[in-house]
Amino acid sequence: FAIALNCVFVTSQIAAEENGVVSYEGFQLWKIKPNSEGDRQFILDIKDEYELELWNERRLARDPMDVLVPPQSQTGLKFKLAEHKISYVVVISNLQTAIDNQKTNVNRTTSNSKAAYNMDWISYHRLIDIYNFMTYLNTTYPKLVQLTQIGTSYEKRPLYVLRISNSSSPGTRPAIWIDGGFHAREWISPAVATYIIQQLVEVPANAKLSANVDWYIMPVVNPDGYEYTHTTNRMWRKTRSVSSTSTCRGVDPNRNFGYMWGGMGASTNPCDETYRGPKAFSEPETLATSNFITGKSSQIKLYLTLHSYGQYALVPYGYDVVYPSDYNELLALANAAASKFVKYRYTVGNSADLLYAAAGGSDDWAKSIGIKYSYTFELPDTGANGFTLPPSAILPVCQDFFPALDVFATKVATCC
Ligand code: ARG
Ligand code: ZN
Repeated sequence: FAIALNCVFVTSQIAAEENGVVSYEGFQLWKIKPNSEGDRQFILDIKDEYELELWNERRLARDPMDVLVPPQSQTGLKFKLAEHKISYVVVISNLQTAIDNQKTNVNRTTSNSKAAYNMDWISYHRLIDIYNFMTYLNTTYPKLVQLTQIGTSYEKRPLYVLRISNSSSPGTRPAIWIDGGFHAREWISPAVATYIIQQLVEVPANAKLSANVDWYIMPVVNPDGYEYTHTTNRMWRKTRSVSSTSTCRGVDPNRNFGYMWGGMGASTNPCDETYRGPKAFSEPETLATSNFITGKSSQIKLYLTLHSYGQYALVPYGYDVVYPSDYNELLALANAAASKFVKYRYTVGNSADLLYAAAGGSDDWAKSIGIKYSYTFELPDTGANGFTLPPSAILPVCQDFFPALDVFATKVATCC
């Protein structure tokens, strides 16, 4: 059966609902190295025939392609690539094993015995742990923290934004918005967003980061998808809305925002991973998020959205290789932030140029409503583990990332 790209997916979806969980037993991640644009196009051409799923898309012909290969296609694809003299390496030899390894929970009681919540950064967590953690902070630090439900997901889960402000009149100073969990399978994203919250709220030495700015943090924009990756299909990306024209479910929330919606790199096919939705902001998640941000648009000076993977700091625009007039200022700040990273090196540059054109992204939209600094960060790794980043990497990724916020906060305090 096919995994996620075309309508064959309907079969696996039904199988998933009957048997519980989608298995990735025997699925492999191959890093394929095209020698030319022709090779790259060739892989794209045989994608459907071999039921391949591309995990990264790069514009440049010689960039390696991360391709998920189902068991039944492996022998055939191996010969096909040999025939065309295209080399590859098997990066993940059994995706299901990688998925199972990701679920191992380190013993929390010994490592975090004083914690008042069931949240840590040595294991991945279900939505309930994340929401209980935010609720706990809201109750425990009422002067500093305010938790707001900004809407409800398609499957009726609450959508939460947490504000951190030590101002006597919160909401009147420059602010930074950070979100995560747009794409369900990118588990490191909510992990980093919640780590940022924990550090800003509970670590006194970080109080200086909130001296002049307010923070709005939404760790899980797509809670339905996130839960679905925990219960049913680890590799789910989209929302979980039902289509009126197809049995395939879900919209890519990062193709659903209302700036240049429907342009390049956004599919009209509900069965595709990059389905743009029936209209801009068709999803309750993107609608609620954009409405909240719009309401605070004169306060918010920096929009940061956390995705994975690839280790990129992406500067708008992403809908095409188009540069805003203040691009150099945006680039300079991204470079300054990325220069704080020690353990993981990020590539910084224009989104459509470094990756691919993709319209309807939240970063472009944020820029379009007048938020000066707008970025998408693709968190680690660069493909050795991809979405199945092991739990042992969570804390290192979080700790490496956090110092960049100082650069952002300092700039935003006086920028605009
Ligand atoms: N990996 C992200 C995605 O595909 C990158 C988005 C970059 N921004 C953009 N507007 N294309 O959603
Ligand atoms: Zn993503």
